[in-house]
Amino acid sequence: MTWLITGGAGYIGAHVVRAMTEAGERTVVYDDLSTGVAERVPGGVPLVRGSILDTGAVTRALAAHEVTGVVHLAAKKQVGESVEHPLRYYRENVEGLRVLLEAAVAAEVSSFVFSSSAAVYGMPDVELVTEETPCVPLSPYGETKLAGEWLVRATGRAAGLATASLRYFNVAGAAAPALADASVSNLVPMIFEKLTEGLPPRIFGDDYPTPDGTCVRDYIHVADLAEAHVTVARALRSDPGRELTLNIGRGEGVSVREMIDRVNAVTGYDRPPAVAARRPGDPARVVASADRIATELGWRAKRDVQDMIGSAWEGWIHLHPEAARR
Ligand code: UD1
Repeated sequence: MTWLITGGAGYIGAHVVRAMTEAGERTVVYDDLSTGVAERVPGGVPLVRGSILDTGAVTRALAAHEVTGVVHLAAKKQVGESVEHPLRYYRENVEGLRVLLEAAVAAEVSSFVFSSSAAVYGMPDVELVTEETPCVPLSPYGETKLAGEWLVRATGRAAGLATASLRYFNVAGAAAPALADASVSNLVPMIFEKLTEGLPPRIFGDDYPTPDGTCVRDYIHVADLAEAHVTVARALRSDPGRELTLNIGRGEGVSVREMIDRVNAVTGYDRPPAVAARRPGDPARVVASADRIATELGWRAKRDVQDMIGSAWEGWIHLHPEAARR
């Protein structure tokens, strides 16, 4: 069985490729390299450069590599950008998925894993978000992920494809420094950037209804997330009728202030944060119930926030050697 990993040259995708190959699965990467980096793809894993919107290229890749399963991560993922450019997000994330599914069904692929997001929940008013919590996305990005889930599930039912939608919570860390997230669009790299610039890390609002007033999130190590894909992919292979929707989190809430304190401790910078205005659209608390994947597949995360910050910092230093010299 060969798995096509779309977006396999990206931050999360490259971790999925690594985990799948380490587990003995055959993989091929399909990536347009718009944000992906070819060097992230391990030696021995073929890399096909192409867009998921290109039916011909997708069809050829599926046939040439005798693909029988797809893990689809190729997508756009900037919430703010999706508000500015909704059509771009619907094209890449929904139309791209539709093209890929059509080609996958024609190629008689049997398993399809879709990378979804906690963004489908929007602003959940619950202590722990279960997969039954109503989905009310707040951004076009979240909408495209929810529409993607519908598309995947409906196609799976109609075409007899085993499917899974994985709702990632807040992903951080790296399995190796060279695989670290090179973008600076989430909390951990944003703290690193400020510290490296000699500036205080920013807290976007400290007047939320949470214990310390700052937003609470559920952070998950990217290596754990990648291993969850292996478990899910194998579950689909062994049960062709399977249809899964799963949170991928740890069930532990950590506040922004706690994250900054921990980063200060790991990096030795020890710079107190500055409080800035709330960022529009940020929910006070989003923490997963991680029970369903544990009950259904026996999977749970192994790594903690310390592992995430430590490995992310090694990756940051790899990209910004000057950060370590201070
Ligand atoms: C992000 C995505 C969301 C996705 C989720 C899980 C955005 C806006 N949202 O959520 O769609 O579902 O990851 O993959 O990108 N913060 C600060 N200071 C900073 C940076 C961030 O206080 O310098 C705060 C934010 O206000 C937020 C928390 O840290 O409360 C986490 O922020 P971020 O890493 O951007 O992720 P989310 O917004 O939770």
